Amino acid sequence: MALLDEIKAKAAALKKTIVLCEGEDRRVVEAAAAITKAGIAKIVLVGNREEAEKVAPGVDLTGVTLIDPLTSDKTAEYAKILYEARKAKGMTEEQAAEQAKDRTMFGALMLKAGDVDGYVSGACHSTANTLRPGLQVVKTAPGIKTVSSCFIMIAPNGGNKYNPDGVAVFADCAINIEPDAQQLADIAISSAKSAKTLAGIEPRVAMLSFSTKGSGNDDKFFKSVPKMQEATRLAKEMAPGLALDGEFQFDAAVAPEVGELKAPGSEVAGHANVFVFPNINAGNIGYKIAQRFGGYMAIGPVCQGFAKPLNDLSRGCTVEDIVATVAVTALQAE
Ligand SMILES: CC(C)(COP(=O)(O)OP(=O)(O)OC[C@H]1O[C@@H](n2cnc3c(N)ncnc32)[C@H](O)[C@@H]1OP(=O)(O)O)[C@@H](O)C(=O)NCCC(=O)NCCS
Repeated sequence: MALLDEIKAKAAALKKTIVLCEGEDRRVVEAAAAITKAGIAKIVLVGNREEAEKVAPGVDLTGVTLIDPLTSDKTAEYAKILYEARKAKGMTEEQAAEQAKDRTMFGALMLKAGDVDGYVSGACHSTANTLRPGLQVVKTAPGIKTVSSCFIMIAPNGGNKYNPDGVAVFADCAINIEPDAQQLADIAISSAKSAKTLAGIEPRVAMLSFSTKGSGNDDKFFKSVPKMQEATRLAKEMAPGLALDGEFQFDAAVAPEVGELKAPGSEVAGHANVFVFPNINAGNIGYKIAQRFGGYMAIGPVCQGFAKPLNDLSRGCTVEDIVATVAVTALQAE
């Protein structure tokens, strides 16, 4: 797929250093070798050579830096960073010293310390266990309070009249279950950034609903329409120069004739390429419909809103998925 190749080529030019936290997983060890060989990023693999050779015999790890929290002289320094970040939450120095030895926490602390540019984990850990160290120590980017995720959606045949770019951004389909208005605004701002950095498109953000500009209401149920309207107001306040509008039904967001009819004068209606869904149900179902019925390729979920780039792999990931995620993470570190 062309966009993915572009992402890898851009990543290679940046020469960022990415930590892979799971040296105990064969796919991760193989990906570390493949990424290094292809020059996509410099890799720090959390683990040790003996274990890597056991899980992935014969893999050439020339150029990969291996670091084991159980023997590294960095672990004590990272434990101090962890203690400082978490003491207000009741963590003791002893607990910090113990937790810094955990491989995912160690990777997050490397990122926090500035010893790597990005973090990728989750091949053999749950989403919560993969993201928690990042949420606890790396925290969110300035002006953003919510870590979220997006999918870069790539059209099968270069796009159509509703998606002339052939690429779109869908969010949040994987992290925030029932975001409030402020969280939706954060998701919108972060998704616009992802659209520029990763998809290479100028964002036009639609805040999605079953209602367009007050055409519907669900006052007796979830009050999701006023929530999306409030989210739109907050996001416009946060980024006045951004092309963003709502609330829109999906057709009003992408079909110029419907957009003109239902939201005349909107610079986004009918031309959106970044889509913020009202909750994880809508987002997750939506991206899978585009994937299965529409033949779109979905890259992600890509995490956004962290102060520094962290990404979560699926436990069913392949070596190629890990390579792609590392390339995406390197671009986010630009
Ligand atoms: C993101 C997620 C993994 C966090 O889970 P968690 O570790 O149980 O989160 P907690 O509520 O314990 O919070 C841990 C810390 O992270 C913070 N945090 C949690 N979610 C956050 C978010 N989205 N943005 C910013 N900070 C967040 C909390 O405020 C808390 O901070 P503190 O300890 O400094 O007070 C959780 O929202 C989740 O499981 N989402 C759904 C994931 C999923 O199943 N996806 C399906 C895959 S397709």
